[in-house]
Amino acid sequence: MLKNKTIVVGVSGGIAAFKTAALVSKLTQAGANIYVVMTEAATKFVTPLTFQALSRNPVYTDTFTEPDATKIAHIDIADQADLVLIAPASANTIAKLAAGIADNMLTTLVLATKAPVALAPAMNVNMYEHPSVQENMEKLRSYHYQLIEPGAGYLACGWVGKGRMAEPEQLLELVDTLLEEATDLRGKQVIVTAGPTREPLDPVRFFSNYSSGKMGYALAQEARRRGAHVTLITGPTALEAPVGVETVAVQTAEEMYNAVNKRYQQADIVIKAAAVADYQPVDVFAHKQKKNADEWSVALERTKDILRFLGEHKKEQILVGFAAESEQLHTYAKSKLERKNLDLIVANNITTEGAGFDVDTNVVTVFTRDGQETAYPQASKQEVAKQILNELEAYMKRREA
Ligand code: CTP
Repeated sequence: MLKNKTIVVGVSGGIAAFKTAALVSKLTQAGANIYVVMTEAATKFVTPLTFQALSRNPVYTDTFTEPDATKIAHIDIADQADLVLIAPASANTIAKLAAGIADNMLTTLVLATKAPVALAPAMNVNMYEHPSVQENMEKLRSYHYQLIEPGAGYLACGWVGKGRMAEPEQLLELVDTLLEEATDLRGKQVIVTAGPTREPLDPVRFFSNYSSGKMGYALAQEARRRGAHVTLITGPTALEAPVGVETVAVQTAEEMYNAVNKRYQQADIVIKAAAVADYQPVDVFAHKQKKNADEWSVALERTKDILRFLGEHKKEQILVGFAAESEQLHTYAKSKLERKNLDLIVANNITTEGAGFDVDTNVVTVFTRDGQETAYPQASKQEVAKQILNELEAYMKRREA
């Protein structure tokens, strides 16, 4: 992904600039062409020479230094950029960008570029939480700039809280995602559901399942990497939201149904990787139930089958379902594809080692509406996400032909 891409790394004044040195080194090693642009404050933390050595390119600190008389540096670099990443982004630089101020090389370049812009804020926790900083970041989000949430922990100023710049590895992954591939998914509206749902019984108890959400999150990330606009509707998981994806957190099957349904008309593709609970308690108690009798029977009723509903109300949308089976994979998966009016179904035998819930790998067979069937060997869920989306794109091509 990074080979021959031009990335402008903007460095503003903050101690986290030392981490940016590691990032620039990784990006250069991955084959990207890096131009580092520093604010004056940034040069107090790390010298331009450090970045010059790591990027093997000149470092820009001053708008009016023009080493090449045939070019205007800030415009030339702004035009060449495939991506602009500002790391660390100080409160001051964020404020300037929110106000459209162009008083140094970095802010001028950001105004001039047509490339996507991402910012990794880093500052003291109280500064980060200040309403003016929050408001400025909100404004930048409205320009479709990508704000990368800082981590929480020990800050160089001595405070403990939110404000640590994202780690170089995370930023590398983000850059990779943002430099998306141009495929048939580019610009498509994709909904991915992921994780389990939780069906409450009383304020402290619920019914759920072992789904980790890993498959759905990997699909959301891969679809985003291919240029789709992705909404990830997710039940409770321990996973971090993929960068560049709109994430909607839900708890119950009912909430998932509402969240999907609200967006269904605008969607081009819906991928239902979630392990939606099939039953919910008939009675949900407002208060915690005390233990009394030795046994407790709970009456359950069916939840709404979201995918079936989507299949029944389908217009041009492409529907991808999942089938977790423990026997007769072919028969059950194919009948689910028909019954729910799907375009693709991803079936896995949950009794196979390395497949199914709460593991990092999966072993899937993909069935398509036009009768194709492909069995894939065991692979990481990231790799399986690629297999599924390749199948999906091939199916879309056949459908259009
Ligand atoms: N699904 C859904 N809404 C539900 C239940 C399931 O949208 N209330 C979706 C899942 O996201 C998945 C597919 O339907 O894509 C799974 O189909 P389902 O009929 O639930 O199959 P299983 O869970 O495997 O259960 P069974 O074999 O008992 O039908």
